[in-house]
Amino acid sequence: MIPRYLVNFDLAELEKKKTDFLVIGSGVAGLVSTLNLAEAGKVTMLTKEEPQDCSTEHAQGGIAAVIAEDDSFELHYQDTLKAGAGLANPKAVELLVEQGQQRIKELLKLGVSFDRQGKEVALTKEGAHSRRRILYAGGDATGTELRNTLTKEVLAKAALELHSNIFVIDLLTKNNRCYGVLAYDSNAASYQVYLASAVLLATGGAGQLYQKTSNPEVATGDGIALAYRAGVEVMDLEFIQFHPTTLSLAGAANFLISEAVRGEGAVLRNQQGERFMFKYHQLGELAPRDVAARAIYQEMKAKNSNCVYLDLTELDADFIKERFPTIYKACLSEGLDITKDYIPVVPAAHYCMGGIKTDTKGATNIQGLFACGETAALGVHGANRLASNSLLEGLVYGKRVAEEMINYTKDSKLAFDNLRIANHTQQFSAAAVISIKSIKKEIKELMTTEVAIIREEVGLSKVQSRLEELFKYLNYEYNSVKDFEIQNMLIVAYLVVKAALLREESRGAHYRRDFPEPSSNWLKHIVLEKDREWEELELEFT
Ligand code: SIN
Repeated sequence: MIPRYLVNFDLAELEKKKTDFLVIGSGVAGLVSTLNLAEAGKVTMLTKEEPQDCSTEHAQGGIAAVIAEDDSFELHYQDTLKAGAGLANPKAVELLVEQGQQRIKELLKLGVSFDRQGKEVALTKEGAHSRRRILYAGGDATGTELRNTLTKEVLAKAALELHSNIFVIDLLTKNNRCYGVLAYDSNAASYQVYLASAVLLATGGAGQLYQKTSNPEVATGDGIALAYRAGVEVMDLEFIQFHPTTLSLAGAANFLISEAVRGEGAVLRNQQGERFMFKYHQLGELAPRDVAARAIYQEMKAKNSNCVYLDLTELDADFIKERFPTIYKACLSEGLDITKDYIPVVPAAHYCMGGIKTDTKGATNIQGLFACGETAALGVHGANRLASNSLLEGLVYGKRVAEEMINYTKDSKLAFDNLRIANHTQQFSAAAVISIKSIKKEIKELMTTEVAIIREEVGLSKVQSRLEELFKYLNYEYNSVKDFEIQNMLIVAYLVVKAALLREESRGAHYRRDFPEPSSNWLKHIVLEKDREWEELELEFT
């Protein structure tokens, strides 16, 4: 059974901090919303490690937006819908592409130094885009440049308090209203309560569920798990995007090798040195990401090899060093000179299309609780996200959610003084607590072998049963962030498996060997809520 809270607490005993807006997460979605919220009240931003420990920091490729003269909203809209394989919500996509252009203009005013070609911003191409529309910075360091600029702006706001090393354990809710969070301060080794009129979860994804991932260590799905425990609806969790090309070297991390590398002309080769992508899709190396990841997986199986190769050797060496300095240096430090050597690559877990169900203003089914960015699911990416639409989502929907939170608190300020909050006590298991570290390893193994690029009923059911057995670890009371994270991973893994079992078809990033075709019966979203599940044909858009 999944408990409501991970720990017992007595609120009367705990220090309480009060704020207008509580933002959890320091990636692009958290930063953009904070910048906007700070115009209307006091914002407290919590991050579980340091501000740079987020996926935004690692984003390489760039931000997709309609900038070029030969581009249009309609083309970006159509590309996004097509990549989303029938499940992207048209209204959400329309807002993304149209408001995206304005958000980019604002970034330029803020001083984000996108790379230039002459006087104009340079634009590159990535998989499944019909035009060159990806803006980038520092060659392949777009995320770092964006996060640095936005963080500086945020820190300059007088109305802001930023607290690092604060792990949010659970949402505090009553009568379908969220009024704050219970958190653990890793530095002080103490529990704390943050009370707020509106709470935003911008906690990123869950790539750490898998052995191979492009995501940082912090991406353990905490926001999704704690929201689910509190009765928040989550949606589309079966759709986990695998990035086709991450570095595959023994002992090295799965460092991202940006899709922009293929956009600039690099090609994929199998163990025999043959190009193979055109066998799988007419766009070859620039096929949609789900197609490319599956093609690489199949090619590896067919050739009994544990990687394929990315070949940049036809590109000019100086161009490579200037255009992809981060990738060039990272590979060189592993002994690979990518101007001459092929890069061994494998697909790795990269992005959750699913998450906390919201409308297009970030509102959830719990009043006072909002979600944005990778942790949210508003249907904008459908079953497969188009490359470089994720930073764009953070920019567009970060602003929209802030506007909605400001509106919400105008009518509904939390009366802190009258708040009567119940304590939480439950019977946790009394048995000696054994280390939970081995569970993390096992979750990763199970997810990688049975719930990755190709799935089927037998394997999914086996994993589901095993995860249910592991639920016993949710009934021990732990008191360290690493243990809380593993408890969260257990819950999110279970939800991914549950949704993957329910969806008896193949669509976008969800491929079932036993149901290899898309089915018109499944043009709908799977929504999971504690003690309840259902399928929804359309989201409500406001
Ligand atoms: C990449 O640079 O390939 C990643 C871009 C993205 O995930 O959108």
